[in-house]
Amino acid sequence: MRRKIVAGNWKMNTLPAEGLELARAIVAKRRETGPSVELIVCPPFTHLSEVVKATRGEGVAVGAQNCAAEEKGAYTGEVSAAMLAALGVEYVILGHSERREYYGETSDTLNRKLAMAYANRLVPIYCVGEKLEERESGRHFDVVGAQLREVVYNLSPEQFSSLIVAYEPVWAIGTGKTATSEQAQEMHAYIRRTLAEKFGAAAEHTPILYGGSCKPSNAQELFAKPDVDGGLIGGAALEADSFIGIGKSF
Ligand code: 13P
Repeated sequence: MRRKIVAGNWKMNTLPAEGLELARAIVAKRRETGPSVELIVCPPFTHLSEVVKATRGEGVAVGAQNCAAEEKGAYTGEVSAAMLAALGVEYVILGHSERREYYGETSDTLNRKLAMAYANRLVPIYCVGEKLEERESGRHFDVVGAQLREVVYNLSPEQFSSLIVAYEPVWAIGTGKTATSEQAQEMHAYIRRTLAEKFGAAAEHTPILYGGSCKPSNAQELFAKPDVDGGLIGGAALEADSFIGIGKSF
């Protein structure tokens, strides 16, 4: 049995007080999903400290949305993995398509960020996914395969054993256009095969989350697929009811 995980990526949304209210509302409804489903919330940096306090001991883990590629020093505006870990943050989203697209993150950057995360005992949620034109030209497997080989293949077996992967087709993010459950399953199975080529049977245990317009009305069909182990949720993670509703969809 693989872990079942629903993670909320709040992106650059909510003011600190609103984020705290959202975290509290999620904690209040957390029981509804049952204990077998793991919940992770990933608020903006400015809210992390308060959200960690509000969720401690409540069965809701906290992740950051990014971390620096360097350890420390003269990197104005950056937040290190060590700073996050010191707050009690346990996870960090890395390689999100918005970071790749708007902030020029490459495989090289991401190799360094993953190394920083592991060095500070943060678990990376590593995102992969193709753009619309890449899918339309039939290159989606090649693109996702390269995103895995250029980064995940550099991990040690021990590091790999805790990794979470998220497949987020860029054309499905924030568009209301979800991948069909068949498209998701096909790609998730490909991701698992690609991971198994390097890491063998350990890939059977890797949680692979789907992200992209996932909501309570489509989560059940997606999560019913054998290689879809949960979701990385954007818009629908900003309301406790819909986030918990997705958590109840296994
Ligand atoms: P949406 O759920 O808003 O499409 O966003 C998905 C996502 O990017 C999560 O990281």
